Amino acid sequence: TRARRDLRRIEFFQGTLDSTSEITDARIFDTTLRDGEQSPRTSFNYEDKREIAAVLDEMGTHVIEAGFPVNSDAEFEAVRDIAEASHVTTCGLARVVEKDIEAALDSGVDMVHTFVSTSDVQLQDSMHATRQEALASAVESVERIKEAGAECMFSPMDATRTSEDFLIEVIEETSEAGADWINIPDTCGVATPRRFYDLIEIVDSHTDAFIDVHTHDDFGFASANAISGFEAGASQSQVSVNGIGERAGNAAYEEVVMALESLYDVNTGIDTTRITELSRLVEEKSDIPVPANKPIVGRNAFSHESGIHAAGVIENSDTFEPGVMTPEMVGAERELVLGKHTGAHSVRERLVDAGYAPTDAEVREVTRRVKEFGAEKQQVTMSELERFAQEVGVDEESE
Ligand code: KIV
Ligand code: ZN
Repeated sequence: TRARRDLRRIEFFQGTLDSTSEITDARIFDTTLRDGEQSPRTSFNYEDKREIAAVLDEMGTHVIEAGFPVNSDAEFEAVRDIAEASHVTTCGLARVVEKDIEAALDSGVDMVHTFVSTSDVQLQDSMHATRQEALASAVESVERIKEAGAECMFSPMDATRTSEDFLIEVIEETSEAGADWINIPDTCGVATPRRFYDLIEIVDSHTDAFIDVHTHDDFGFASANAISGFEAGASQSQVSVNGIGERAGNAAYEEVVMALESLYDVNTGIDTTRITELSRLVEEKSDIPVPANKPIVGRNAFSHESGIHAAGVIENSDTFEPGVMTPEMVGAERELVLGKHTGAHSVRERLVDAGYAPTDAEVREVTRRVKEFGAEKQQVTMSELERFAQEVGVDEESE
């Protein structure tokens, strides 16, 4: 499949990808169990967390942020047991305070992700701290984590609304203190892809640490900004399954992974064929329904109803699908839906699949009934189709 996909990519994109859009290095940091769990009205219990983490681990997700260990005993136990069971890197969140960092270290995670607000609005009205106080606790926290021998990620929270001079000062000093990763959070989702690209380029010129990005979806740019981050030199993006998370959520795991794999030729090493299964699991455990039109994992992502589209797809699925991404690649199935917009092609195909041998006139009459029924906002199921076939007198195929 890879060779076939490569060939398709060449056909589709020859000459259109310029060197600035190349991505060579791309890792996935999943925060479903941390930022995802911060979705309003959502919480995961111990078993939910273990089950989701196990699938993320089996799929080869590079980092699993298992939670916020200082939050409660139950959270600590879940993070500790995920850290023990996982084969991939595990991470725990900690504010820049000693008890958070100690709890994260004690949980046994490989990486501690510590963060502090750096924008003036958050420093004044959320943290009630000065820039210098925030900077001092950030540096001290990074040093503490590194002294304990853990991998350290530092986040200047609200980076995209932080004054550039102060952001650079914080990044330089925390990098100097030994941070392995500098994460750039677009905490309130205000970055645009172009601006985020420029910011990551600036960050890159002020640190030798690896760069990670954390993008929120308040304006619907989270996944686009994650990709911009990679294009500008970030090595890792924080994502959540189905894009769940604070407010409008985070960059979606499935969108970022599939864009990297299908549009940028990056082999993430992740088993993408389990994406649909993972999405359904998180949908059930989070109690946040996936919209039908959600890219990759929505019920309509590989469904076709309109006559022109369905007829094209029956002949060659590349006509009205991306081509470089197929339902099989994400463990989903293509569906031809019957309704108001259905054409004779789909009706014939479905009747033949169900064992009928319709004439052209019969196909036309069944199609008319399907459209009429669908126009009344009614779902045309297979049993409805068979009822129409019988009313019209379509013969069953002889053995
Ligand atoms: O959105 C944010 O800034 C966060 C931080 C903890 C990285 O979730
Ligand atoms: Zn966040």
